[in-house]
Amino acid sequence: MKIAILPGDGIGPEITKQAVNVLKALNVGAELIEAPIGGAGYDKFGDPLPDSTLDLALNSDAILLGAVGDWKYDTLPREKRPERGLLRVRKELNLFANLRPAILYPELVSASTLKPDIVSNLDIMIVRELTGDIYFGEPRGIHTNEEGEKEGINTMRYAVSEIERIAHVAFKIAMRRSKKLCSVDKANVLETTELWRQVMVEISKKYPEVELTHMYVDNAAMQLIKNPKQFDVLVTGNIFGDILSDEASMLTGSIGMLPSASLDSHNKGMYEPSHGSAPDIAGKDIANPLATILSLAMMFRYTFSDEKNANKIESAIKKTLSQGYRTADIYSTGDKKITCSQMGEAVIASLAN
Ligand code: IPM
Ligand code: MG
Repeated sequence: MKIAILPGDGIGPEITKQAVNVLKALNVGAELIEAPIGGAGYDKFGDPLPDSTLDLALNSDAILLGAVGDWKYDTLPREKRPERGLLRVRKELNLFANLRPAILYPELVSASTLKPDIVSNLDIMIVRELTGDIYFGEPRGIHTNEEGEKEGINTMRYAVSEIERIAHVAFKIAMRRSKKLCSVDKANVLETTELWRQVMVEISKKYPEVELTHMYVDNAAMQLIKNPKQFDVLVTGNIFGDILSDEASMLTGSIGMLPSASLDSHNKGMYEPSHGSAPDIAGKDIANPLATILSLAMMFRYTFSDEKNANKIESAIKKTLSQGYRTADIYSTGDKKITCSQMGEAVIASLAN
């Protein structure tokens, strides 16, 4: 097992460190190699995805990533900004399938801003397409138009093959769960997603046991708050998935709890928390490392087909939460408030017994 460790920026290094400690505690004999990405890549090599980091990512079995981005890079040309490093590694490695499970741990019911009966036992899987859509579509840029006025352009586009492959991933996941799949689009307005819907319907014929439904994205955003438990597996494009997964994360109490896996067609994957680099709290040792540690569990499950270690990590996290340990973002009165590194240590202690 060769695992690339890309801590990135902001809270990235501190949360990644805790996940690496958990990985080491599992004693699976993995080879870990660290490299800079995002602002850290820019600072060291003038590139948010240095060649050496890309090579490492290409030659590893899996990648663990912290987070990228910091306001201090906001004035750089777009190609040099931290986010480009992340988007490029997703694209270069063909990591088109992004799985973002939103699970509410019973202990965190009070951390959610929604009423307990709306969110208790919530377990949703968001399948987000990750290498297409308006994120990558050409033409793009800021130009001066014929009237001499500046104009911003991005292009939403999906080819049938891109929709088909994410559809297969989503239907297969639905087969392993409740056999319900909701495809989210904006087919009433956008042709790209009209095609998306047609392809979903076509692919659904290969999975007759799965009940496929469709929902417009604005309604889905509303339904996620109104009655989130109506959903089991959601499949959607890159931009809608970006937005809906942040929304879904808050149902679980904190964005600090939402892991993610980004997979290619051979289950090689990059694993990262769904949250960002939170530069405002970076270096204070108060971030929540659980989304990153949960991402590590997903690595064992999806890339290494090692359900045993995946379950081991997840059980350790449940145990830690049941003991009352909370980082600031999931803390309520009466809990034991601990730091990022203490949370990592608590999870390792729970692994042991
Ligand atoms: C995410 C993030 C990224 C995205 C940013 C950092 C480029 O928000 O992983 O959801 O928009 O995909
Ligand atoms: Mg996002």
